Amino acid sequence: MFSRSLTEDEARRIKLIESFVRNKHKESDSHDFSHVLEVTQYAIKIASRTTESVDPFILICGALLHDIGKTNLTFKSMHGLIGSAIAEEFLDALGYSDPYLKPVRDAICRIVARHTPTTMVPPETAEEKIVFDADCLDRLGVIGVLRGFIGKSGSISEILEDKMKTRIRDYDKLHFEESKEIGSKLNEETLSFVEYIRKELEVRKASIEELELDEALGKKKLESGTDEDFD
Ligand SMILES: [Fe+2]
Ligand SMILES: [Fe+2]
Repeated sequence: MFSRSLTEDEARRIKLIESFVRNKHKESDSHDFSHVLEVTQYAIKIASRTTESVDPFILICGALLHDIGKTNLTFKSMHGLIGSAIAEEFLDALGYSDPYLKPVRDAICRIVARHTPTTMVPPETAEEKIVFDADCLDRLGVIGVLRGFIGKSGSISEILEDKMKTRIRDYDKLHFEESKEIGSKLNEETLSFVEYIRKELEVRKASIEELELDEALGKKKLESGTDEDFD
């Protein structure tokens, strides 16, 4: 649950941060602004359902800024830490280097750094865990699976197997029962969608294992055991 309501001034600052993030994400592929918005909406949903006390300003700013490090495409696996540094710089420019506001800035930057396992530092506060969960939730479901294909190299089945392993772990890594409730339908959707594609790939693989030339040779398809037709 939210510990308090947002003030008018905080709502205005959130709008400023939102337009900064929207602008920076406009050239992102799989992590475009729609992902940021989805994660922020999930974060608000989890926070309003959980019994933990959650600061709305810290949570919403952390969710909006969580992938800001992904707008720098060079070091994707470091995007939590890079994003945290970008967020700090930006928040300082908005006046958050003031000693009174610094703890708020630091709490937001910690969310950005710890939202991803690639940083290798687990989330600790309620706000950090919620944004982590919200990010996992947006990886589930059909759209989440499709987003996982963007920018990846390798065959469809290789990417799918890789995504499948990650998606199962994603659901198991959720911190809150409320997150699991929100994500259970999406998780089922993921599992059946991946299973469907897996089967289609199996059929495709079986049909392309051998080049069939019968039709091109003008021959009718032979039933098995009628080898004499070839004599
Ligand atoms: Fe991320
Ligand atoms: Fe994300």
